[in-house]
Amino acid sequence: MSDATTTAEWTTIEQLADHVDEPVTLKGWLHNKRGSKNLYFLILRDGTGFVQCVVSKEAVDEESWTAADEVSQESAIEVRGTVSADERAPGGYELQVEAVDMIDESEDYPITPKDHGVGFLMDRRHLWLRSESQWAVMRVRNRVIMAIHEFFQDRGFVQLDAPILTGNAVEGTSTLFELDYFDDESAYLTQSGQLHGEAMAMALGKVYTFGPTFRAEKSKTRRHLTEFWMIEPEMAFYDLEMNMDLAEDFIVHVVQTVLEDCQAELDALDRNLEPLQRVQKPFPRISYTDAVDLLRSDETAQMIDERMEALRQEKADLEEEREENQKERPQAKKWRKREIDAREIEINKRVDEIEEALRNLPDWKESAQTFEWGADFGGSDETVLTWHFDRPVMVHRFPAKIKAFYMKRDPTDDKLAMGVDVLAPEGYGEIIGGGERATDLDFLKEQIDAHDLPQEVFEWYLDLRRFGSVPHSGFGLGLERTVAWMCDREHVRETIPFPRTIGRLHP
Ligand code: 4AD
Ligand code: MG
Repeated sequence: MSDATTTAEWTTIEQLADHVDEPVTLKGWLHNKRGSKNLYFLILRDGTGFVQCVVSKEAVDEESWTAADEVSQESAIEVRGTVSADERAPGGYELQVEAVDMIDESEDYPITPKDHGVGFLMDRRHLWLRSESQWAVMRVRNRVIMAIHEFFQDRGFVQLDAPILTGNAVEGTSTLFELDYFDDESAYLTQSGQLHGEAMAMALGKVYTFGPTFRAEKSKTRRHLTEFWMIEPEMAFYDLEMNMDLAEDFIVHVVQTVLEDCQAELDALDRNLEPLQRVQKPFPRISYTDAVDLLRSDETAQMIDERMEALRQEKADLEEEREENQKERPQAKKWRKREIDAREIEINKRVDEIEEALRNLPDWKESAQTFEWGADFGGSDETVLTWHFDRPVMVHRFPAKIKAFYMKRDPTDDKLAMGVDVLAPEGYGEIIGGGERATDLDFLKEQIDAHDLPQEVFEWYLDLRRFGSVPHSGFGLGLERTVAWMCDREHVRETIPFPRTIGRLHP
């Protein structure tokens, strides 16, 4: 809360704590409204928060009463009144209203408090952003971004920007967005700032890039966007171990900051805090080979069976509750009917989720149990792996064949690349990919060939190995996957204001 945002003319909801028992003016939109003959409770939102405004017919003039009576969802209004502290009020403060002024009426706002499908909401993303859950997610996103800058700036990293239009691939050619770049040349939207980051690390030591990155992903999963934001530190003279130490400190810092500074947001999202509180050093570190053994183990099979059993039980309990409620409903009072209906929506949603999980889990088990050394982990394999740990897990030393051309090889086993993925708990899976970079010129030339990449466009990159090549490492954190995990959102599309996915370019 900063004084800088207080203006002489109005106060923001976030600042109400500093104005208890004082008169204030609020400007915002009507989020929701309850009321009866002589009393209205207007839930006002202004971007900084939500507050209940109590309008009593006796306390306001006729014009204000009419405004309160007629104001519809998402109408813009100005409200004057006195702030009162009330523990029972959402957020802890209320406004005892003295006047309500209409700024602009909203007619037939399409997103009502009832339950809408995700497709419907995504088509109206420009409006959906106004909902309480999306408000909370966007505020967490903002805090995560600032926490990232704080972390690196405090450690002497220099933030530099990698180009968005590039002449070369970074992460393989199958996910490149290509466009014409003047005379006969192709340009690509960057998949990662890493290669340019390496050049900048050779100039400035420790750097990080923070920019939009693009993948022409054909995958329609809950973890994939075609445009997402990546944070990529790159450090001269860091080996894989130092890289992992940094990633660990980095994640702890981000999670702790969110826990400290986003309590209202996490509360609005009903986020269970325990799994976040457990994100403490040290994170388990296991090799890819050990991860494969774990996937194939009896322990994993048994764990999946137990999950299925627990889900079946949960489903049976929910169905029983639903049935009891339906029996009660015909005789129930109006308020109780509303309660039952709201609960029914919740129950149905959860039962759908459980049914989907029960359909998927046998395949997930099969995939884990038959996993072959050398393959890349699928989304479900990562999810299953994370169930074994109560905090993020670092998987390192992957088969070189499934990793990018720039990875350093393990000096003790040439089949392995010195890469690391950090998998988030609670089933979220990979949030960081990175590793130690190859430093040898001839080795890199070979790799560029082996990956069918054109050497000409990598000449500048090879120069980094011609002029004072040193060990160096780095990693990339996906911002949206991190925010999805912080906010416990099922799909990354809810964690960026305007998501771009394979089927979505609008709004
Ligand atoms: O694992 P990736 O592909 O690694 C790189 O791009 C490296 N060049 C980074 C580096 O070492 N500097 O991507 C890094 C992270 C992933 O772990 C994931 O969090 C995120 O970027 N990511 C995506 N997020 C959303 N949608 C997608 N399609 C993503 N692809 C990767
Ligand atoms: Mg990766």
